[in-house]
Amino acid sequence: SEPLTLGVAGLGTVGMGLIQLLEAHAERLEKTLGRPIRVTGVSARSRGKARDALIGDAQWFDDPVALAQDPSNAVFVELIGGEEGPAKDAVEAALKAGKHVVTANKALLARHGTALARLAEAHGVALNFEAAVAGAIPVIKTLRETLVANGVRRVYGILNGTCNYILSEMTDEKRDFSEALREAQEKGYAEADPSFDIGGFDAAHKLALLTCLAFGTTVACDEIHVEGIETITRADIEAAAELGYCIKLLGVAVQSADGIEARVTPVLVNEESPLAEVSGVTNCVGIDADFVGNLLLVGPGAGGKPTASAVASDIVDIARGIVMPPFIRPTDRLAPIAPMNLTSH
Ligand code: NDP
Ligand code: HSE
Repeated sequence: SEPLTLGVAGLGTVGMGLIQLLEAHAERLEKTLGRPIRVTGVSARSRGKARDALIGDAQWFDDPVALAQDPSNAVFVELIGGEEGPAKDAVEAALKAGKHVVTANKALLARHGTALARLAEAHGVALNFEAAVAGAIPVIKTLRETLVANGVRRVYGILNGTCNYILSEMTDEKRDFSEALREAQEKGYAEADPSFDIGGFDAAHKLALLTCLAFGTTVACDEIHVEGIETITRADIEAAAELGYCIKLLGVAVQSADGIEARVTPVLVNEESPLAEVSGVTNCVGIDADFVGNLLLVGPGAGGKPTASAVASDIVDIARGIVMPPFIRPTDRLAPIAPMNLTSH
């Protein structure tokens, strides 16, 4: 039967991970869905890079917006990154063309998620983003689907693989900050501009998405209080260890009587806590909900293969005809409340 056709914009760590996954599991996916998934168009910044063998006979587009509008693909997969510019233009163009969109771009969604969700709803298409938070961990589906009948009280965790990798290397291997950051970049964990990672902004983007899914609000990231890990030294880590603690960058959003408190900060974590066990690029998301209690999800938070796995699951949902409101309920029923900035308390 007819293949599900994809236009993939962005052929970097995640984009090439996806191409490899679709190739490696073509047969399994076809058996599962009853039809193949085919990448019919691709776009990246420079055509010259040595990836032709992997992208096969997919048509090349210099302009991701043209790929997003091209009728030869039914699903547009955005893996470029950035909250403005080509990623935003192309996602908007695809939704306006009535195409399903899959993206891993938390920066884009944290800034423009509500407006893009409104556009998706208006056109009756999916806007799926499982890969945008915590890499391979199925946390978007957990909040949007599995825990949908719960009242969530708190969502928290280690949301940035690069920071956790750096802090773990500084703690366990006595490495320097800059050396560990360079290694995280080489492994494909860091953002194109790593100040988004070490400054805490990437974790804040993810926390903004978790907050709106957990509490049914519109997406807001500017009012989250953000502190990064740039000023953490080996001396800080050693001093914490002497007292039985380790340092982790945590994102926490709590529903209180006054509203939602949301913050990203380095935190002293007791060495007995399960969060202290989470090392390297691993992420951990905790959800405290009224009918299930505390749930901890742990797994690879970044990297080409784990992230591609989450992107592929979103594509499979579309192939199965599943179209959900992106943020738990239709946008006109999301509460227009912004998280409270903890610094104002
Ligand atoms: P990369 O920097 O590795 O890849 C970005 C890709 O976008 C490259 O192929 C680049 O082209 C292409 N690109 C850049 N500008 C343009 C443009 N103007 N037009 C067309 N293509 C363009 O990024 P990642 O793969 O790491 O990340 C992609 C997205 O996934 C981001 O939103 C990121 O936040 C998110 N993400 C990343 C994870 C990770 O572990 N890396 C995990 C979860 C989410 P070229 O190759 O020619 O330079
Ligand atoms: N730069 C991000 C991280 C990628 O290190 O967690 C995964 O979202």
